[in-house]
Order: sequence, then structure tokens, then C-alpha cells
Amino acid sequence: MSKTGVFYGSTVGNTRFVAEKIGKLLVNAEVLSVKDLSKETIELYDNIVLGTSTWGVGSFQDDFYKFVVQLMACDLSGKTIAMFGLGDQMNYPDTYCDGMGRLYELLRQKECTIVGRWPADDYNFSESRAYVDGKMVGLALDEDNEPDLTDYRIRTWIEQIKTMFK
Ligand SMILES: Cc1cc2nc3c(=O)[nH]c(=O)nc-3n(C[C@H](O)[C@H](O)[C@H](O)COP(=O)(O)O)c2cc1C
Repeated sequence: MSKTGVFYGSTVGNTRFVAEKIGKLLVNAEVLSVKDLSKETIELYDNIVLGTSTWGVGSFQDDFYKFVVQLMACDLSGKTIAMFGLGDQMNYPDTYCDGMGRLYELLRQKECTIVGRWPADDYNFSESRAYVDGKMVGLALDEDNEPDLTDYRIRTWIEQIKTMFK
């Protein structure tokens, strides 16, 4: 049976909270912090869901800096990868979910299948690195301003990515 890894980086807990919800909705999924996740562990999974918040102004969540080095060293061929990002549209409208956008920019250099693009209509930001060709590169969430929309967004997105996973 194929295995799914839900890997998250989270500073105050929002991305961890969402990662745990996502893990419960997927079959045979394990939820792990990206902190100290090795190349060997990452490669054990057929499907990978990656979640990062955005910090600084448009930067990765702290634990992601080390993690992306491991991720980029992995053989990801044959793997299916989906991303989700947490950000704050009201206070950071020009860098909303940029962390997810940065992750996408790295992953598109690798041989892997990226799934889970998401419509951008329902948001209020002015710029985002995660907005590419008219859509978000993964599920964008905003626990700071729109926590009431999170469950609906997650459930709808999961139904979509489930059909793409092995
Ligand atoms: C100092 C600081 C900088 C932030 N920078 C951004 C940003 O550039 N873009 C964005 O979308 N969100 C930004 N955020 C919002 C966080 O990404 C958001 O609160 C997120 O839910 C935190 O998730 P975490 O607890 O999993 O790290 C920032 C928050 C803080 C406190």
C-alpha cells in the first residue's frame, strides 16, 4: 500500500494544526515536522504533502531552510507532491504565502509530479509568489483572518488531491 507523508514547518502552531487535519483525511498518512527530517526518511513516501507558513517578509518558515536542502538532494522521481501554505493576507498582502511559492520554485526543478493547484478567486491579497498562471500553486490558508474557511478549503482540496495520489 502506498504511503503518504505530510511534512510541515510551523512556528506558532498554525501549520501543524492544519497538517494534523490533513493527515486525518488521507489514507495511510503520517504527519511529521520537517525539523531534522532526513533525505532517507523523505524518500520512504510515495505521496508527499508539504506545508509551510511564511515569515519575515516573504521568507520560509525557519525549519524549512534546512529541510529544503534535504528535499533537493532526494530522488523524487515517481513521487506525487502537493503543497499547502499559511499566511496573513491582511498584514502581508504583497507576500501572501510566498513560502509556498518559494517551495514550488525549487520543486519545479526536480523530476516529480506536482498536484493540488487551487483557485485564487476567494482571496484578498495583492501579490504572491504562490500565484502562478492564474492559480495558487497549492492550497492557501489564512488562519489569522479566515479561520472559518479553513475546514471547507481543506476538505475540498483533499478530495481533489486524493484522486491524484497513488
Ligand atoms: C513576523 C511575522 C512575519 C510574517 N510574514 C508573513 C509574510 O510575509 N507573508 C504571509 O503571508 N504571512 C506572514 N506572516 C503570517 C504567518 O505566516 C501566519 O501567521 C501563519 O499562520 C503562521 O503559521 P505557523 O504558526 O505555522 O508558523 C507573518 C507573521 C509574523 C508574525
